[in-house]
Amino acid sequence: MTDDKSARIESLRREAADCRACPLWRNATQTVFGEGPPAADIVFVGEQPGDREDRVGRPFVGPAGLMLDRALAEAGVDRNRAYVTNAVKHFKFEPRGKFRLHKRPNAGEIDVCRRWLMSEIDVLKPRLIVALGATAAQSLFGRPVAIGKHRGETLVLENGLRVFVTVHPSSLLRLPDEADKQAAYALFVQDLRAAGELGAEGARAGATAALARARGGLL
Ligand code: URA
Repeated sequence: MTDDKSARIESLRREAADCRACPLWRNATQTVFGEGPPAADIVFVGEQPGDREDRVGRPFVGPAGLMLDRALAEAGVDRNRAYVTNAVKHFKFEPRGKFRLHKRPNAGEIDVCRRWLMSEIDVLKPRLIVALGATAAQSLFGRPVAIGKHRGETLVLENGLRVFVTVHPSSLLRLPDEADKQAAYALFVQDLRAAGELGAEGARAGATAALARARGGLL
């Protein structure tokens, strides 16, 4: 089962590497696909790769990734046991001197790229999906979702999978005031802890059901 998921994710990754469905591939270095164990209970969804992710080819390895890693560790969630991906698979930026400034993907780009995210989710069928910010939530639900209103809630997709909504770690990095940043960070850790518990609860429920099925089969 896991081997099958692994093969399907690898096949999607290869296909997405040549994606030309929107113009973002032109200036990006490469497609940055999701990564993590195919049996992961939790899938984290970000917005799009940043400058470092674009160069390295892996999601969440730049400043936002470091922030996410630190918060996950503090929340007791093991990133290595999660699958981490993005709503949009190419880096969108504006050149500014020697820098490449992040530009938010628009609704059309999110929509076109949605097929990759939904295919990943369809293969992985995780216990819980965590939407990190507005772009992730918009891609998952196919419509805008107000993060301020739904933060901390678990919403349900049409396919029955659960989505926990929280902010994007970059929003913490952008806060100019140190006290605000620390308060926002503490809330983010709290959200990730809640998500970790929801994911683990789902895993426990799944294990109990599997045991009951196995027992049923033996009787
Ligand atoms: N921000 C994201 O949303 N994803 C990344 O991979 C990096 C930064």
